[in-house]
Amino acid sequence: MPPAPTLPRSRTTTAVRLEQVVKTYPGGPTPVVALDGVSLTVPAGAFVAVMGPSGSGKSTFLTCAAGLDRPTSGRVVVGDVDLTALSPDAVTRFRREHVGFVFQGYNLIGHLTVAENVRLPLTLAGTRPDEAWLRELLAAVGLEGLSERLPGELSGGQAQRVAIARALVARPDVVFADEPTGALDGSTADAILRLLRSTAHRFGQTLVLVTHDPRAAAFADQVLFLADGRFRGQLVDPTVEQVAARVLGLGR
Ligand SMILES: Nc1ncnc2c1ncn2[C@@H]1O[C@H](COP(=O)(O)OP(=O)(O)O)[C@@H](O)[C@H]1O
Ligand SMILES: [Mg+2]
Repeated sequence: MPPAPTLPRSRTTTAVRLEQVVKTYPGGPTPVVALDGVSLTVPAGAFVAVMGPSGSGKSTFLTCAAGLDRPTSGRVVVGDVDLTALSPDAVTRFRREHVGFVFQGYNLIGHLTVAENVRLPLTLAGTRPDEAWLRELLAAVGLEGLSERLPGELSGGQAQRVAIARALVARPDVVFADEPTGALDGSTADAILRLLRSTAHRFGQTLVLVTHDPRAAAFADQVLFLADGRFRGQLVDPTVEQVAARVLGLGR
C-alpha cells in the first residue's frame, strides 16, 4: 500500500482557532451583539479573508482573534495557546512575540521616523532588531532609502508599507490586518495585498485579513462571509466576480 500523502507541515497545524466566540458591547437600552457565536479554524500558512458589510463585526472578530480584546464568552486559541485562559499581561506578552497587527488607518507615530516606527514593537518589549533584519524587512516592503522619513512625508501606500513592516518586525506567526487597503486607490491597494501575501509566504506566516472589498478578499485562499456577527458561508480560491456575486446574494 502506498504511504499516506504527507502535507507540508505548515498545513497540518492550526494557527488560529475560535470556538463559539461571543462579543457584546454594553450601551443603549440593550447590549450590542457584535459577534454571535463565531467558530473558525485557520490552518498554519493559510491566507484567509473575512468579508462583510460595515457593522457586521469584522473589526471585533479581528481584535478578539488577535488577543487585542477579550471575548464575552468562547475560546480563542493561537498556535497552541488559549488566550482566553491567560491574564491580560500574559496575553500582551504572547501577542508581542507571536502576533502582528496591521491597523485600519496605519496608526503610525508622527514624530518617529520610518525605522523607529518599524522598531517600535521591539522597543516596547525592551529589545532591538538586528540591523540586517531591519534592512531586509524595509527592502521586502519596498521602503529602502526611506528609513529616516517621518510619516507626514509619506504617501498612503508608503505609510501602509511601514505599518506592515512594523507588524512583521517581531517575526510573528500570525498577521492580522484590518481593512489594510481601505484608504488606498485600486492599484496601490493591489500592490499592498500582493506584498502582504508574498511576505506571509516568504516568512512562513498565517495571514487573516478583514475587508468589505471583494477585490481585496479575492487575494486570499479562502473567503468567509460575516453578517450580523455570524459566518454565513465561504468560498475557496474565489475570483473577484465570485466574491462580488456572493456579497450581492447576501442582499447587501
Ligand atoms: N467599542 C464599541 N462599543 C459599542 N459598540 C461597538 C463597539 N465596537 C463595535 N461596536 C458595534 O459592534 C458592531 C460590529 O462592529 P465592528 O466590529 O466595528 O464591525 P465592522 O468592522 O464590520 O464594521 C456594530 O454594531 C458596532 O456599532
Ligand atoms: Mg471595521
